[in-house]
Amino acid sequence: MKTLIAYSTTLGCTEQCASKLKNDLGADVEMVRISRRRRYNLHNHETIIIGGSIHEGMIQRSVYKFCENNLDVLLQKQIGLFVCCMDPDANEQKLIKRAFPDQLVKHALASGFFGGELNIKKMNLLQKIMTRKAARLQKEPEIDFQKILDFARMLQEN
Ligand SMILES: Cc1cc2nc3c(=O)[nH]c(=O)nc-3n(C[C@H](O)[C@H](O)[C@H](O)COP(=O)(O)O)c2cc1C
Repeated sequence: MKTLIAYSTTLGCTEQCASKLKNDLGADVEMVRISRRRRYNLHNHETIIIGGSIHEGMIQRSVYKFCENNLDVLLQKQIGLFVCCMDPDANEQKLIKRAFPDQLVKHALASGFFGGELNIKKMNLLQKIMTRKAARLQKEPEIDFQKILDFARMLQEN
């Protein structure tokens, strides 16, 4: 497989974005959900795209760990990084910088913020309460499909 999209999702939005990205990229793309217990053989992929979502200001710990644990291999690949979240004041560069290790951010060919979605049906009670309380989550959420397409184009041009 030429390209791997490794992602984590809490409520499904990042998975949806990863699927859209897979379609936009075309042939030879594999998707894998990051799990802390799993080991990955990344040697067969030329391009690796890593994505996750922001909850309480942080990307999933499993995503950060995946980057840390595989940093040496990842730095030899073409890398794309993306996040999903819905803070109306979100600054794309700051989000990416906070979510991924510095070395990987500097090495990445493309990075993107794809917007977000609140999947209330998948939330537990605590998540529902937190969502109601947080002012930043009161805006109408939206996935930015154009940004996903632009991200795919940017990677393909390199
Ligand atoms: C409990 C909870 C906390 C969240 N915290 C943040 C946050 O700190 N910043 C932000 O921009 N979005 C926050 N979000 C919005 C999510 O990042 C957004 O819904 C995202 O699309 C979720 O992606 P996922 O479904 O792949 O987990 C939060 C959502 C929930 C449910």
